Amino acid sequence: MDMSQNLLALCFSLCLAASLVHGNSSNERKPYIVYMGDLPGAEISVADEHHNLLLTAIGDESIARESKIYSYGKSFNAFAARLLPHEVERLLEKENVMSVFANTRNKLHTTRSWDFLGMTETVNRRLKLESSIIVGMMDTGIYMNCPSFNDEGYGPAPLKWKGKCVTGANFTGCNNKVIGAKYYNLDNIDPGFQENQSPADDDGHGTHTSSTVAGVAVKGASLYGIANGTARGGVPAARIAIYKVCWGGGCTDMDLLAGFDDAIADGVDIISVSIGGNPRKYFEDPIAIGSFHAMKKGILTSCSAGNQGPSPSTVQNVAPWIMTVAASTIDRQFRTALKLGNGMEASGLTISTFSPKKEMYPLTSGAHAANLSGNNYGNASACDYGTLSMDNVKGRIVYCLGDSGQDYTIRELKGAGVISSTGAQSDTALTTLIPATIVNLNEGHKIDHYINTTKNPQAVIYKTRTVKASAPALASFSSRGPQSITLNILKVGHVDFLAYIHIYCSLHIYVLKVCIRQPDLAAPGLDILAAYTRLATITGEPNDKRISAFNIISGTSMACPHAAAAAAYVKSFHPDWSPAAIKSALMTTATPLKIKDDLSDLGSGSGQINPRKALYPGLVYDNSMSSYISFLCKEGYNSTTIGLLIGGKKKYNCSDYKPGQGTDGINYPSMHAQLKTINSRISAVFYRTVTQVGYGKSVYKATVTSPKYLSIKVVPDTLTFTVLHQKQNFKVVVKGGPMPNGTQILSALLEWNDSKHSVRSPIIVFQPFYY
Ligand SMILES: *[C@@H]1O[C@H](CO)[C@@H](O)[C@H](O)[C@H]1NC(C)=O
Ligand SMILES: *[C@@H]1O[C@H](CO)[C@@H](O)[C@H](O)[C@H]1NC(C)=O
Ligand SMILES: *[C@@H]1O[C@H](CO)[C@@H](O)[C@H](O)[C@H]1NC(C)=O
Ligand SMILES: *[C@@H]1O[C@H](CO)[C@@H](O)[C@H](O)[C@H]1NC(C)=O
Ligand SMILES: *[C@@H]1O[C@H](CO)[C@@H](O)[C@H](O)[C@H]1NC(C)=O
Ligand SMILES: *[C@@H]1O[C@H](CO)[C@@H](O)[C@H](O)[C@H]1NC(C)=O
Ligand SMILES: *[C@@H]1O[C@H](CO)[C@@H](O)[C@H](O)[C@H]1NC(C)=O
Ligand SMILES: *[C@@H]1O[C@H](CO)[C@@H](O)[C@H](O)[C@H]1NC(C)=O
Ligand SMILES: *[C@@H]1O[C@H](CO)[C@@H](O)[C@H](O)[C@H]1NC(C)=O
Ligand SMILES: *[C@@H]1O[C@H](CO)[C@@H](O)[C@H](O)[C@H]1NC(C)=O
Repeated sequence: MDMSQNLLALCFSLCLAASLVHGNSSNERKPYIVYMGDLPGAEISVADEHHNLLLTAIGDESIARESKIYSYGKSFNAFAARLLPHEVERLLEKENVMSVFANTRNKLHTTRSWDFLGMTETVNRRLKLESSIIVGMMDTGIYMNCPSFNDEGYGPAPLKWKGKCVTGANFTGCNNKVIGAKYYNLDNIDPGFQENQSPADDDGHGTHTSSTVAGVAVKGASLYGIANGTARGGVPAARIAIYKVCWGGGCTDMDLLAGFDDAIADGVDIISVSIGGNPRKYFEDPIAIGSFHAMKKGILTSCSAGNQGPSPSTVQNVAPWIMTVAASTIDRQFRTALKLGNGMEASGLTISTFSPKKEMYPLTSGAHAANLSGNNYGNASACDYGTLSMDNVKGRIVYCLGDSGQDYTIRELKGAGVISSTGAQSDTALTTLIPATIVNLNEGHKIDHYINTTKNPQAVIYKTRTVKASAPALASFSSRGPQSITLNILKVGHVDFLAYIHIYCSLHIYVLKVCIRQPDLAAPGLDILAAYTRLATITGEPNDKRISAFNIISGTSMACPHAAAAAAYVKSFHPDWSPAAIKSALMTTATPLKIKDDLSDLGSGSGQINPRKALYPGLVYDNSMSSYISFLCKEGYNSTTIGLLIGGKKKYNCSDYKPGQGTDGINYPSMHAQLKTINSRISAVFYRTVTQVGYGKSVYKATVTSPKYLSIKVVPDTLTFTVLHQKQNFKVVVKGGPMPNGTQILSALLEWNDSKHSVRSPIIVFQPFYY
């Protein structure tokens, strides 16, 4: 595609976005968040500061008071208020205001998994420390009356816990497993949904993610007998604190920030956020802001990478202080088999909880079941809504081309089941409303032919069975890097960028920094069985009658809590490790994915977590606050902004922080470089520091595995450590000519090995992606 055209398109959308913010002269106040970095010193009352700021922007005492929605002030300094565009401008001029951004809605990134990861029920645990770990869940609430949250045998909440348990509609209280629960609905979205105004889980998502982290072992857990086994969380001794920030209409920025503000102050150890929105600048994004202040307090935030794969440049939640989690597959699939009257058998990936009541059912196809007296819109062969006749469908199994929600249509017409055929089969098994399965085009053609050539065609669809599958692979829906849209738009003047594009946009020249962030690692997120709410049906469909204590769902939403639990497990052995050290341990010990597609390397990070190995990584790539400061300096944030972010009286000056050494400017356990332009020569340098966390004396040697097009030098290639916690520096120099024709990505691997530990970092070089 023509690059200049794409830039023009991008430019238009930027200008359009700008005019929506600035050019809307509507008199209606809209909710905004005014973010001011860290808490001011003890001498200033946050609420007074907010009030005074609002007053100078609005100019009227009583309107200012009415406009304020919420003051955040436990863990960072911000408030939410209803503002007019010119008031937003006025607030942005204040020197203590870091950002003002419209309140937007984010989305949820909708039992064998722990065994597959090597975490058997008898895995070595430090139960005493594990039971003092509190995992904060930003989610849809929790359904307490569920065996996974039984607190039998648990002592009281750890002493550090300062949180609350709010009771209310369908939520009678917490226990020693779920020690805290709060809900936030600051702008009262969609009151029409009649959701419980309490921490009760009306959706199921929050119950599912919470039990994945820390549910107790429950025997005989299944979805109508499917996936029957013991369901349990990764750290069953740990405690859960739930922050309900998501509702039927989404998860607003205001609610998310309120959840973070409380969770950090309440004393959680790990935060799990299976939510994402459109990529934004770091400090206009509630998850990036919340997780930054969490990181400052030693709390690691695990986030889902998003479900927009396999397209590249779709990854979300990429701030380097976040653990960005992709979804991988486990060694189990849910297959639904069918049999025709002529004995032909086939199967596909769906979850059908129904056992057939008859040996065979009459079979027809969409083409034959068309409503001839109906309108001719739509495609009867694809069983489009409104194209079929109930007389022809009732009691029959219907064969349809394509696979777009036909179970819903055929159920309405009282059909007995659906066989769909598609050339683009997904790896994800979705729960169907009636007996249904999906076959490939070749099998579909045979079924169609059988229907056309047989007098009384018949078929039966069996209940879903689990089968073994090869794994791990990246789930097809898991979002891929790189993050292509800028996270930091700056006016021209900063020239130390690795890659930039000039865009002429309403007379201003902007430099778009092309961010090169990727998911960090992968964790199981495909077809995961975990606890569910009884306040919703298993498909969320109101006419579905099925309610179950356990449900099977997929998404990076399911991967994120697996990684959060793995982080909690590592923390229970190493309570003093920083969030960056824990993340590094999980990344450098991850298992590379076995099965790959073209863009897997941009989506799987270092591979699938291996929690037991992560306990003993040998070396870690740590990052202190000063590394993040130098990273932010490199990103173009200035001393004033960084001062606000960090708080305190200290003055920061980017020239003191050697900003931006090398290609990425941060001590990361993976290395990614995007070429400056398509087919330019490859040239990148990564500066790294590793900290020894293994044995006192050790010698690590570097081994690089790389395709012939890359020349990779590690300097020095031997690191000698004499004491624990010793640090050593090295650099990785990557060079090469233009990439071979048709190549988008080149992947290599750096491994430090002392013969007891293998510390792995992926090195990825890729062409720029333009849209
Ligand atoms: C301002 O924005 C609102 C909603 O975004 C829209 O309904 C309204 O028409 C806009 N007004 C103008 C003058 O553009
Ligand atoms: C509890 O949930 C049920 C089912 O969703 C609902 O009918 C009922 O009104 C709720 N109870 C309260 C007190 O909100
Ligand atoms: C699940 O498995 C257990 C033990 O194998 C068995 O007793 C139980 O009946 C099974 N439950 C279902 C619903 O299949
Ligand atoms: C066929 O379509 C017509 C027009 O939409 C509708 O009135 C009729 O009920 C349909 N017939 C059947 C059997 O579904
Ligand atoms: C109907 O839909 C199927 C599946 O999407 C497609 O292959 C077929 O070409 C469509 N037929 C018509 C007439 O549009
Ligand atoms: C079966 O018959 C339908 C309707 O006449 C037709 O659209 C379809 O192509 C036929 N399929 C095969 C495999 O012959
Ligand atoms: C720092 O950046 C902010 C926001 O971009 C800007 O308003 C401010 O003037 C800058 N300060 C300095 C000292 O450059
Ligand atoms: C930061 O330090 C540099 C070099 O030490 C100095 O020239 C500059 O004036 C300082 N900037 C600020 C804002 O203090
Ligand atoms: C690379 O591929 C393009 C289009 O496929 C072709 O035009 C070009 O000649 C190729 N270049 C080389 C060096 O093979
Ligand atoms: C690295 O160390 C591991 C032990 O953790 C050993 O099994 C492996 O063979 C070593 N690899 C290399 C390349 O030396």
